[in-house]
Amino acid sequence: MLPVIALFRKMRFVLLLVCFFVLWEGCASGGPEEKKKEEEDPKKKELKELMKRIDEWYKKSQDRMGYYPPQLTDGDWFIFERTGETIANLSDVMLKKFVPADDKIYLKEAKDMKKHSEDMVKPATERYNGAYEDIQYSFGRLRNTCKNCHNHLGIQIYTSLYPGEPSKEGH
Ligand code: HEC
Repeated sequence: MLPVIALFRKMRFVLLLVCFFVLWEGCASGGPEEKKKEEEDPKKKELKELMKRIDEWYKKSQDRMGYYPPQLTDGDWFIFERTGETIANLSDVMLKKFVPADDKIYLKEAKDMKKHSEDMVKPATERYNGAYEDIQYSFGRLRNTCKNCHNHLGIQIYTSLYPGEPSKEGH
């Protein structure tokens, strides 16, 4: 037998293994389409993170609605204060970075979100008679900005904003 053919026969198995490995790697890492999806638009990702932080503070205050003032602890008042401050600051980020130039409703709701969250701060720090009612009032208006902007953009997160209430599609 020619030495070249003998060598090829010996190598055949190794070559087959290499081919197999290359193919398998190609499948496991996914096509170029899948890769594109993974590398999400960084601006969209940042907006998502921002909304998550807004939502986190929103929920902390939501958990403290419907109390009677004597039931509120110092910690609760502090949460209202921080919710107001944090959402107002994050609204500023939204206004600077994310409001589309041609979307007046988006702009209005982002400005209103800032205003109503800011309005929670004063009563939360001063804790005057009726301060809790003022916080609840501003919080209710803040909640409307969430709803209005999401509805405007077709984002459905109703059940997470209004726990315990049935979802009202389109409202
Ligand atoms: C001015 C417009 C606007 C306002 C006001 C607004 N949002 Fe959003 N929200 C968005 C947009 C845009 C998205 C979609 C972000 C994305 O691409 O994932 C979003 C998405 C979300 C999400 C889903 C985030 C995720 O994980 O995908 C939550 C939760 C949320 N918002 C909570 C809130 C809460 C709570 C408020 C009110 C305190 C609020 N939003 C007010 C525009 C707004």
